[in-house]
Amino acid sequence: MYTQSFSVSDEPGKALKPVASTEPAELMARFDARIDADGRIEPQDWMPEAYRKTLVRQISQHAHSEIVGMLPEGNWISRAPSLKRKAILIAKVQDEGGHGLYLYSAAETLGTSRDQMLDALHSGKAKYSSIFNYPTLNWADVGVIGWLVDGAAIMNQVPLCRCSYGPYARAMVRVCKEESFHQRQGYEALLVMMKGTDEQRAMVQDAVNRYWWKCLAMFGPPDADSPNSVQGMRWGIKRISNDDLRQKFIDATVPQAKVLGVTLPDPDLKWNEERGHYDYGQIDWDEFWQTVNGNGPCNKERLSTRVKAHNDGQWVREAALAHARKQQQRAMKEAA
Ligand code: 3HC
Repeated sequence: MYTQSFSVSDEPGKALKPVASTEPAELMARFDARIDADGRIEPQDWMPEAYRKTLVRQISQHAHSEIVGMLPEGNWISRAPSLKRKAILIAKVQDEGGHGLYLYSAAETLGTSRDQMLDALHSGKAKYSSIFNYPTLNWADVGVIGWLVDGAAIMNQVPLCRCSYGPYARAMVRVCKEESFHQRQGYEALLVMMKGTDEQRAMVQDAVNRYWWKCLAMFGPPDADSPNSVQGMRWGIKRISNDDLRQKFIDATVPQAKVLGVTLPDPDLKWNEERGHYDYGQIDWDEFWQTVNGNGPCNKERLSTRVKAHNDGQWVREAALAHARKQQQRAMKEAA
């Protein structure tokens, strides 16, 4: 449904000139040539420090989003309306944990430890996706998170399968396949509710009303206000800009909303024949930045739940390390 992002031309990014750098000229030229040829950079390759830093920033933020994203949905596992929905939700939440693991592993190949990244998250220094700082008030929210939040995530992440950094790109292939299941299960759950009672239909519409604008903001600030985009595109980390991805998401979602029978809460949402895209209204960027900067409705709750889960899991990490040490000692004894 969203794979059209694979076929979007990279020309705008390629047109950008290499950015001036104090890195060794010969190594830098080789690196730029590989990027220009659309080659992959691997962990053992030389890379400019700024490229490494940008990747650690983006991949760790992405990993944090996955594991914080488990929390609002995890709250609904015990309240899912049937055994089938509970089994699907458990599988989905488990997938998100797995995505976090692939992504932390990809970031670790750049020389930053998982403990450092988790410390940054738990101390409130690191960012994670704004969308997970809003409450999940009723069961329809779980469906809407699948349809719209995971739908927006796929739109953003399919181009990352072609990211210039090999470990990130490869991790994204599997993440996107699983996200596609997440999106479809959410849409299907909503279709079932829309065929139910008036009350159920009202719950779906209410969830869409609350989540629509927040999902549009997930793609990040407008291109003109996005400090990292130019360099990210030049390096082939980002392939499509924030605004272009947002537009693609809107264009893909409007027909899905029609099939579902819900109204997207934007009076300015209209097909523009000349542009070949839907026009849409103003996103509340002040509210977005408030949330990104720690003042959204659930930031504090999400962070404290996350820190508690980490602390409660301390004994599991210690037991796993003790077990690994024992196995290693046994293997050494047998080899001796
Ligand atoms: N939430 C929180 N912070 C955001 C944000 C959002 N929705 N959008 C942008 N930001 C932050 C950026 O991280 C950056 O902060 P920093 O400079 O302090 O690191 C700042 O706002 C400016 O934004 P830019 O556009 O300049 O930043 P980027 O070029 O990095 O683009 C991005 C932002 C599009 C989110 C990009 O980083 C990206 O594609 N990241 C990988 C995908 C990702 O992290 N997705 C998060 C959702 S994952 C998910 O939803 C889980 C799934 O299971 C549902």
